[in-house]
Formats: sequence, C-alpha cells, structure tokens
Amino acid sequence: MLRKIPRTRISTPSNFLEIIKHLFFSVHNDEAVNEFEEKFAEYIKVKNVIATSSGKLSLYLILNSLNLDKNDEIILPAYTSVSVPNVIMSSNLTPVFTDISHKTLNINENLIGNKVTIKTRCILPTHIYGQPCEMNRIMKIAKKHNLYVIEDCAHACGSEYNGKKVGSVGDFGFFSFGFGKHISTLGGGAITTNNDYVAEQIRKKIKKFKKPSNFELLKKIFRAYIIKFFTYPDVFSFTLYPFILFFGSETITKIFEENTRLMKNLPSNCVRKFSDFQAIIGVKEISRLDDRNNERIKNAELYTKHLKSIINIQDTLPRTKSAYLNYAILVDYRKDVIKKMIKNGVDTQRTWMKNCSSLEISNNFKNDCPVSEEVAKKVIYLPLYPELNKSEILKIVDVLKS
Ligand SMILES: Cc1ncc(COP(=O)(O)O)c(C=O)c1O
Repeated sequence: MLRKIPRTRISTPSNFLEIIKHLFFSVHNDEAVNEFEEKFAEYIKVKNVIATSSGKLSLYLILNSLNLDKNDEIILPAYTSVSVPNVIMSSNLTPVFTDISHKTLNINENLIGNKVTIKTRCILPTHIYGQPCEMNRIMKIAKKHNLYVIEDCAHACGSEYNGKKVGSVGDFGFFSFGFGKHISTLGGGAITTNNDYVAEQIRKKIKKFKKPSNFELLKKIFRAYIIKFFTYPDVFSFTLYPFILFFGSETITKIFEENTRLMKNLPSNCVRKFSDFQAIIGVKEISRLDDRNNERIKNAELYTKHLKSIINIQDTLPRTKSAYLNYAILVDYRKDVIKKMIKNGVDTQRTWMKNCSSLEISNNFKNDCPVSEEVAKKVIYLPLYPELNKSEILKIVDVLKS
C-alpha cells in the first residue's frame, strides 16, 4: 500500500487568503460572535450560549459563577482529560474521582450515589469520545441531592441523549472547538445553559477579558494549516509516515498531549474573548456539522460491524446517538498493536485520556478506580474522520484482524 492512512485529518476554513484578509482588513465587532452564539443555541436547543476561548475556560467560568465554597466537591469520571480536574483544583474545589463503566467508558452511574457527601455540589459527566452518559440516572441523583449537573461535551458536539442534544440535558454544558474537534475554530469553546441568571454572570466576567491579538490568531492559523498539510494522505505517506515508522507513534502523540502538571491558575493566554474572526469560522462550521458528523457515524458503524465480534470496542447505549469524536478500541499489548499497524501503513494512537485519580496532581484526592486504570492502558484510537473512505476502513479492519 503506497498511500498510508494518517491518524487524523483536521478541518480548516477553506479559503486561506480570505481569512487572512478578514483578519487584517475587516471591521471587528461583536456581531459575528452574537450570530455564532445564536446559531449554536438553535442547534443545541438551549436558551443561552456563551462563546469562550476554550473548553477549560468554559468550565472555569461555570464553576466560578455558582457561588461554591472552598473545597466543595465535584463528582467526575476518573478517566477524562487532565484539564478537567486541573480546572476544578485551580478553582479551589475538590475533584471526587469516580470509576467508569468498562463498556461505555463513561462515568459508572451506579457508583455516583455513594460519592455524594454534604460538600457535594455538582456532578460533571464527560460524554467520552462522543458517547452520551446515562443522563436520566445522573439527573435523578442530582435532583435527589440538589446538585448541579455540568455536562462535559468537549467530545460530543452533535451527540444526542433521548433525542436531545447533549449540552441541553444538564444544568450546564461546555464544548471545546480545538483542533480535531467536531467544530474547530482554531481553539475555542462554548457554554450552554437555560439558566439566565448564571449566563448573565458569566457574560459580565467575559466582558473584562482581552481579545486575542492578530498575532495570536495568526499563529493558530499557521499551526492548523501545517497540521492539515502534513496529514494530507499523499504528503503524509512521504513525510510523517516514514518519521513515525522510524521514531515510533509516541513521538507525535506526545507533541499534542496535554500537560499533566498542576495548573495553579488558568494559563494567561487561555483567558481571552472568543474573537469575531473565530466566530465567522464557527458559523460556517455549524452549517456543515451534521453532514460531517453523519460521515463520522457511517464510518464508525462500518468499524463496529466488522470489529464487534473480535475486539473490545466502546459500547453505545440505547436511545443515544454518538457523534464519534474518536473510535476507541481496547487491546492488550497496545504498543505492539500500534507498531504492527504503522508497519502496515495505518497510523493509530494511544488515548490521550488518563486515569486522573492516579496522577501526581491528584495526590490529595486519590481514589481507587481500577477500571479507569485498565482502560487508560488499553485504549487505541482508530483513524476516524469524515474524509476516510470505505476501502480505507476495510483496510484498517484487515490489518487489525491480522
Ligand atoms: C474531555 C475533555 N474535556 C475538556 C477539554 C478541554 O477543552 P479545551 O482543550 O478546549 O480547553 C478537553 C480537551 O480536549 C477534553 O478532552
């Protein structure tokens, strides 16, 4: 096979020159941001959307607008992005790590009730890789104990639970529009909520933030186009592919992996407004979101059809629709599998999610979460993006089977 299959392709705005022209020569006002927020609110079906500069900042703003006391407790899955407990801790709150289900890889809702104490204020379920959590159960527990539910939708833009878009089921939702997400605005995020009062408090906070400079935005644009260039299969096959073959998959995985150090405060470059420039890209992205998600779903279903009986894959729940940010499989001997796959022309990567309850930053809040520990060692992402075609998927399946 001459043409190799990269682990990811990223979506960038189509007209590079038009974008640069807009950045430097257009009048910048809040109109585009308002339009983006309205369109996203219409899409998710919530009253308020507040665009932010990242998923992290979105969570930070929610937590810091709820009048919580120091060391109040937030129940979250142990298997998630390290940025989530980091934001909780930098808000002087206590993360209460809860183990996940081996099947869905989401928080095990049967374990939540036992974690509730007099200090608990929120449940923060992550819809991991796009698969919605068992929200009915979670909402019932929250109602019983009078807790807020904050949905982490960073992986799940377009996913549905019981016919409702995630981000509209709990009290709050937050999204990430980073590179490689369903919507990419070169970094960015959004808060969704029907709570007008808290939405207003968050808007007041954001008004005080600086806009990103043109230089900051330009850096993001170049980064996106460089990644896009090197992940075109024809370019990938003769550049990154031989590099990965020689130096191993980890060299690339580590470049993009999140830092696992403790964040005392949010990094200053993270505390920014969402720019009108990003909003213009975002509006275009929303208009093609469903089409691109449908391609992802079609590709994921093809994998499932061929792999379900031979390998452990992330399960989907009835009454849910996953927008499949990643296609996760669980394998023993992960390093060997990744190595064999790359030798056969398929670039895969291990998970970026961690068992956060066993990280150094969580020393004071450790919990035994054996399923998260096991899953974090076993998950591989198979290539999954709208541009992937049927014959490439069948090729990946063949390599995996062999
Ligand atoms: C599950 C999860 N939550 C939150 C975030 C934070 O989003 P952002 O990178 O936009 O800050 C990420 C990042 O990818 C994530 O994977």
